[in-house]
Amino acid sequence: MCGIVGYIGEQQVAPLLIQGLKRLEYRGYDSAGVAVAKNGTLLVRKEAGKIAELEKLLVAEPVEGVYGIGHTRWATHGPPNQKNAHPHVSENGDFAVVHNGIIENAGTLKKVLQGKGHVFSSDTDTEVLVHLIEEIFNTADGERAGKLERAVEAALSQIEGTYGIAVISTRDPGKIVAARLGSPLLIGVGENGQTFVASDAAAVIAQTRDVVYLDDGDMATVTREGYTVHRRGQGPVNRPVSRVDWDLSEVERGGYPHFMLKEIMEQPATLRETMRGRLLLEEGSVKLGGLTGMDEELREIERIIILGCGTSWHSGLIGEYMLEDLARIPTDVEYASEFRYRRPVVEPKTLTISISQSGETADTLWAMREAKQQGATTLGIVNAVGSTIPRETDAGVYLHAGPEIGVASTKAFTSQVVVLAMITVHLGRLRGTLSASRGREIVRALQNLPEQVSHLLEMDLAIQKLAEEYVDSRNFLYLGRGYNFPAALEGALKLKEISYIHAEGYPAAEMKHGPIALIDEEMPVVVIAPKDAVYDKVRSNIDEVKARGGCIIGVISEDDHELLEVVDHAITIPRTIDMLTPILASVPLQLLAYHIAVLRGTNVDQPRNLAKSVTVE
Ligand code: F6R
Repeated sequence: MCGIVGYIGEQQVAPLLIQGLKRLEYRGYDSAGVAVAKNGTLLVRKEAGKIAELEKLLVAEPVEGVYGIGHTRWATHGPPNQKNAHPHVSENGDFAVVHNGIIENAGTLKKVLQGKGHVFSSDTDTEVLVHLIEEIFNTADGERAGKLERAVEAALSQIEGTYGIAVISTRDPGKIVAARLGSPLLIGVGENGQTFVASDAAAVIAQTRDVVYLDDGDMATVTREGYTVHRRGQGPVNRPVSRVDWDLSEVERGGYPHFMLKEIMEQPATLRETMRGRLLLEEGSVKLGGLTGMDEELREIERIIILGCGTSWHSGLIGEYMLEDLARIPTDVEYASEFRYRRPVVEPKTLTISISQSGETADTLWAMREAKQQGATTLGIVNAVGSTIPRETDAGVYLHAGPEIGVASTKAFTSQVVVLAMITVHLGRLRGTLSASRGREIVRALQNLPEQVSHLLEMDLAIQKLAEEYVDSRNFLYLGRGYNFPAALEGALKLKEISYIHAEGYPAAEMKHGPIALIDEEMPVVVIAPKDAVYDKVRSNIDEVKARGGCIIGVISEDDHELLEVVDHAITIPRTIDMLTPILASVPLQLLAYHIAVLRGTNVDQPRNLAKSVTVE
């Protein structure tokens, strides 16, 4: 959600900013801009639309210089147009700011600044910040070193809300001042005094793998001599340099037309990575390094609250079913955005599990903080290493699925479900609710998953054909029951977010309590009906749809010859234990959504109005 990049060093900055912004484009893609310092002036170029538009502008109106800042936007305040694109610049052109986050008291501050004669030129909250910095800078005494830092710090102390920012100024040249509170920011440490500022490591990976993650409340000054970090209102701090453990190829499409397809196809490998070194077949158990030393605490837990949004919330629902079924711990799954604002009751001995691909989702982060403040033990299930959620939770389990760039989450979802299965086995074995032999059965089924997913991916062409039949449908219903109700929700979400076809996920049995009224020959109904504990019930629901002329796309077990005759189109999946069926059901539904979207000509990797990492509430 908005991407920031900054660079100072020996190379021309504009191409590096563009390169970084392209890698951050998944965070927001409605407008973009750069500000480059050159001979005592700031050269600003910004454009509505994708980074490619900005790139064209820079060909027509090039900028030269060796330091600057750039931004790709996901609009919060003001429509996505050129004037609202970042960087925002003070009236005299001396200060430029890029910002990710929301300034909640922008309205009040704007009035005060207008009273002092400041004239605003955009509809954004961010513009307030640049005027405020200018105002403070101009009224501060003397020309002492560090003046920009002090002005930024003083301005931030008046801000309510969240921010990741980078600021440059002709009045205190040769530096980028950066700060974060609630929006991610890191420093990329390159060779020969080249230093970057960025919202995430993808922006700098082509230049360096050494990064310093800033904490909330940190400010950094980046110059040709290197960087310094201090706590706002306090003194300098040392933040460790981390080595990014993935490489450039993982943030490139690698020959695929879209990141989404690449990430769907990667799943056999990503599932292997998620399980690598963690399965103990003989013991019928798992080893999760991130939970070491917590056995006693986990034995005592009386309740689990799972927090997440969107796809991560769907995997959480599957987790709820698993944890109650096998670890016998009362579990609730909460929309993180709702949890925080309804004064939740968090009893002693509650464990929260925050699920997030990005580790930066504001709703999930704040819900986790709320639970932590009320005394809960906090675990994270996160993909992005070094992101905020894993740094603030008591413990956690990384997905190790590699960077997910496509806005629609795919490989992170299947890895999340696998991690939840492993946590369930861990808790079940620890608390004696799961026998070693049942544990072995689950571990064996997990081991078989990558191969089974590989096999499923071979049906890509067949699913493409199926997509051709349904490309013009205006609505879809997805039904599932038990473990596959969340898979129905996830299948519907994938379709709606990338193809813009209206799709609803429903518990299969709930259909007769309302949605059945929607069914006619125009309504494709995807029913997930593997041979599991609720098979017979779902079978009856299929008959109910058929009786009303509905057209069924059945996701069924590969040996289910009977249903094969009943459904209009069959997507067959291999047999596995019930709790893992949603993984196998989801993979072909990801492909179905993908192909329908491609046929409809939408921008699959960057669907309208969306952004990958939602760092505003
Ligand atoms: C859907 C999707 C979103 C995210 C949600 C949470 O495909 O990607 O629904 O799942 O915004 O994001 P994370 O998992 O990063 O917290």
